[in-house]
Amino acid sequence: MADGTDLLDSGERLDAEALRGLQLERLRASLRHAYENVPFYRESFDKAGVGPDDCRSLADLARFPFTTKADLRENYPYGMFAVPQDRVRRVHASSGTTGRPTVVGYTEGDLSLWADLVARSLRAAGGRPGDKVHVAYGYGLFTGGLGAHYGAERLGCTVIPASGGMTARQVQLIQDLGPEVIMVTPSYMLTILDEFERQGVDPRGTSLRVGVFGAEPWTEEMRREIEERFAIDAVDIYGLSEVIGPGVAQECVETKDGLHIWEDHFYPEVVDPFTGEVLPDGERGELVFTSLTKEAMPVVRYRTRDLTRLLPGTARVFRRMEKVTGRSDDMVILRGVNLFPTQVEEIVLRTPGVAPHFQLRLTREGRLDALTVRAEARPDATPEDRETAARAITTAVKDGIGVSVAVEIVDPETLERSVGKIRRIEDLRPR
Ligand code: DLL
Repeated sequence: MADGTDLLDSGERLDAEALRGLQLERLRASLRHAYENVPFYRESFDKAGVGPDDCRSLADLARFPFTTKADLRENYPYGMFAVPQDRVRRVHASSGTTGRPTVVGYTEGDLSLWADLVARSLRAAGGRPGDKVHVAYGYGLFTGGLGAHYGAERLGCTVIPASGGMTARQVQLIQDLGPEVIMVTPSYMLTILDEFERQGVDPRGTSLRVGVFGAEPWTEEMRREIEERFAIDAVDIYGLSEVIGPGVAQECVETKDGLHIWEDHFYPEVVDPFTGEVLPDGERGELVFTSLTKEAMPVVRYRTRDLTRLLPGTARVFRRMEKVTGRSDDMVILRGVNLFPTQVEEIVLRTPGVAPHFQLRLTREGRLDALTVRAEARPDATPEDRETAARAITTAVKDGIGVSVAVEIVDPETLERSVGKIRRIEDLRPR
């Protein structure tokens, strides 16, 4: 079948009832594994008065305590590991910007599962055995590079392990080696796009067919921009180190309607970020994951701080998560109004005369926080175009988000370019 459903693995072929049964069985085993092998979980379950045997239905999971980033930090580096060190084959660390990083570990079995799930993701994205896959996620402690790498190999692809950076060389490699698939953050894809144009090479003329973009929030407007300018399909991949890395959820190329969560291995809940109450599917809140099959570092009700909602499956039996709007950490509160960088991205990318590069600068004026949207002019924009663009963005933010911001249209090529995860917010407020 041309849509690739003939390639589905056994997990993807389960029906809904079999899936729920498998999840419950795995959930009970995973809770037991965590309780018996990680002192942190034993203590936190005991304190909450629950034990692994109290989980008789999937809904019973709500009785178990949450795990947070702070818990992981307090148990740095190896306190959350559930297996002896000689069974740990690899560690990665999450991209914490402040304080201690968090270290995550993998057994041989975990690494194999991870490769299987990234292979499944890549296939859902439209990748096929025999494709050449250019991996421009960073290699190293970050899970993006190596996670994508082993998944692409597992699918039977040829991997081009470019890693991030050296953008001129990325363009050369893409032209010379002829990859069909690229895996990279969407913001770095834009940096690569600029480099194509700087070199006078038509980005629509490459061998690329599919881009698998993740590790940061991005919008439908960004999808349109990248798809049009590269003539490729752009699909979303989601994951986080604490849960496994990339390959927790993946958008299917044939529907592009949100990301199917690989629920046979990671059980999702969406909770009210303030009360922790579990919300019904369809309601927006904070995504929480419980690993069902991980060995080295099981996680129980891990609070991702990512905001989304759960939707029924379409192209797969698994439930979908809507594209992540943002992290609760990235939310700016301006005179009582909540604002996410993705909301500004939608506006900037719809505005003629400006490039898809922008940054949010937070300052304090007196007692009030102020926000300046700094967007880059397109090279051919006239001074009048810039003024029109500034007015259009100001109005769209005011009308759409409900708050007044300053807008500055800066010269082309002046905003910092991403080589990995982009930092959208520049916080200049006094501490
Ligand atoms: O970013 C893993 C990854 C690598 C995912 C490559 C996809 C591709 P961390 O560095 O631990 O892991 O950061 C995880 O990044 O909690 C989200 O806030 C954000 N994130 C990841 N994927 C997406 C996405 C990797 N598709 C954190 N959309 C997560 C929005 C994403 N945010």
